[in-house]
Amino acid sequence: MNLRELEAKLENLDTQARTRIAEARTLDQLRGLVSRLVGRKGELGRLIAAIPQYAPQDRKEAGQLINAVKTRLAELFAEAESRLKSSDVEAERRAGEAFDPTTPVPARQLGSVHPVTAVQWEVEDLFERLGFAVVTGPEMETEYYNFEALNIPEWHPARDMQDTFWLTNGMLLRTHTSPCQVRAMERFGPPLRVIAPGRCFRYETVDASHENTFHQVEGLMIDRDISVANLIAIMKLLLREIFRQDVRIRLRPGYFPFVEPGFELDMSCRICDGRGCQTCKQSGWIEILPCGMVHPNVLRFGGIDPHEYTGFAFGLGLTRLAMMKYGVRDIRVFNSGDIRALVSPEKLTGPAIIGD
Ligand code: FA5
Repeated sequence: MNLRELEAKLENLDTQARTRIAEARTLDQLRGLVSRLVGRKGELGRLIAAIPQYAPQDRKEAGQLINAVKTRLAELFAEAESRLKSSDVEAERRAGEAFDPTTPVPARQLGSVHPVTAVQWEVEDLFERLGFAVVTGPEMETEYYNFEALNIPEWHPARDMQDTFWLTNGMLLRTHTSPCQVRAMERFGPPLRVIAPGRCFRYETVDASHENTFHQVEGLMIDRDISVANLIAIMKLLLREIFRQDVRIRLRPGYFPFVEPGFELDMSCRICDGRGCQTCKQSGWIEILPCGMVHPNVLRFGGIDPHEYTGFAFGLGLTRLAMMKYGVRDIRVFNSGDIRALVSPEKLTGPAIIGD
């Protein structure tokens, strides 16, 4: 081969190399090209190895021509390498390479928890620390425990406060967890500290803050000298523990035939920070924790002497509490089966606004 032929070959090789470098999509492809083109056994390597076959006076120029192409290609390779290193394709390839199917999986709790369950666990945990027992009552209830024993006789207009699903067997789906009050008094007698979480049912129109199936937690503390001060202290503690901070509350007189005095305890809506939104019906407040001192008649129904014992009771709206804690704007999300509403165990305290 003479110098002219070498020049033509180098030009051809240079053009081809540029195209192939530009087309390389992965670092592996690029590295293959380097070894095929400029490696010792590659095309340029073979041309260098053939220099002794040139006429002695041409050898130096042949070497220079080959080296010039080699230098240009080395620059192109370096540029292409930095481009590919930052490309997604390469990142994906590396991620794939890093995957070792035999690596032991980190121990992790599987599954998620419904927000109502998550907050119920927290409430139970708190009250257990305060010496309360956690009890349950039946969802299919008698008229006696749901109404009569709570000082709501048949003729009482308060029965209309809670629209009831009546069953064909004469029983009903409990409209609140309050039937657990007299059941607990009968079962344990005074002194008494219980909470009773559970599902309640009301035949009512569903909207952003009303469900026909929702959860409450009944609370009941009966002892000598229990006063409104004890009640308020426990209510404040409950909200502070659940929200990990002081919560703005509003206490108003509330009428429930089974307590006297009775209170409505509202908390500032955490969806809108009290400014007013669809969830709180523009009021800035959410009814969450009605409560009061147990009515003497109810104590009597439970077999407890009201002259000796007093007590407080509350009916925490657990589903609404979950809405406030996890930033769920619409209560209907909870029974919708929407898995976005589930709380992963690692995030049990983290709010995520959902329900738009
Ligand atoms: C009662 O159910 C009383 N049994 C509470 C009580 C117990 C008062 C003990 C005094 C002493 P009320 O109907 O207001 O009260 O419901 C209590 C809470 O349950 C409400 O504040 C609200 O947070 C929640 N709640 C009531 N209705 C619904 C509903 N349809 N959907 C979701 N949550 C509801």
